[in-house]
Amino acid sequence: MQVVSPTPGVLVAVRDVDSLRRRIQSWRREGLSVALVPTMGALHKGHLTLMAHAQKLADRVVATIFVNPKQFGPNEDFAAYPRREHDDFEMLNAAGVHLLFAPDVGAMYPQGFATSVRVAGLSDILDGEHRAGHFDGVATVVTKLLLQALPDIALFGEKDYQQLAIIRRLTSDLNIPVDIIGAPTVREADGLAMSSRNAYLTAEERAAAPALHRAITAAAKSIAGGADIAGALAKAREELLKAGFKNVDYVEARHAQTLQRLNPGEPGRVLVAAQLGRARLIDNIAI
Ligand code: PAF
Repeated sequence: MQVVSPTPGVLVAVRDVDSLRRRIQSWRREGLSVALVPTMGALHKGHLTLMAHAQKLADRVVATIFVNPKQFGPNEDFAAYPRREHDDFEMLNAAGVHLLFAPDVGAMYPQGFATSVRVAGLSDILDGEHRAGHFDGVATVVTKLLLQALPDIALFGEKDYQQLAIIRRLTSDLNIPVDIIGAPTVREADGLAMSSRNAYLTAEERAAAPALHRAITAAAKSIAGGADIAGALAKAREELLKAGFKNVDYVEARHAQTLQRLNPGEPGRVLVAAQLGRARLIDNIAI
């Protein structure tokens, strides 16, 4: 694989699938490899780290920006979700990303669109219990993006750990010929995982938010040290409520790959989702 160094200022943006495919096919004819980095925009340092990671692994990097209506519930923040396409374009351009695919809703879901991809089991637990239909929306759009671009690799952040597990499952189940790469969560200096939704936090909430990372780090350490799992998780929940989180949807220790019940000695992950003001924050950490 020939890896070229990124050249800032070469970004081309396309909105339709034909243009996306034409450009990717021309790279393929030159023998170049392609990485896809799907996003919903409102880009931050976490996304740029993913782009930089992609640049190390492939010759050409395609970013996508699409705020996918199918993964938002009726009472969720689809309308309010931050949209900053101009700034995002500048950031991707400066980072040396080669192609931006930014379709509109009509291009992704034209009149008569009737297909849904559902990963049973994995989509019904943890976040799936609190966000009905969310992972079906994610699975549907990611399947479409992968089939539209047919990249060699696609990168997703580990911050959305359950999403990553679902995407691995669906690409394997549907024989989509792509390597899914999970990239470590990028954090602020105080431990808060970077997220476009952090923009919803007031100054006071932002000061309280690192409690999320602190609580799951402490729980993971206790569990790794042999502490009672239920006790460690109850303590984490208590810490979050004390820090000002309104409610904790879940704080759970699960098997790192299957996300099922964790048995002693198995690789584990602590996963959390909790509401702080307007922001529903999620995070996870290895045990
Ligand atoms: O993680 C996200 O930003 C989104 O869920 C994704 C993978 C781009 C699908 O819309």
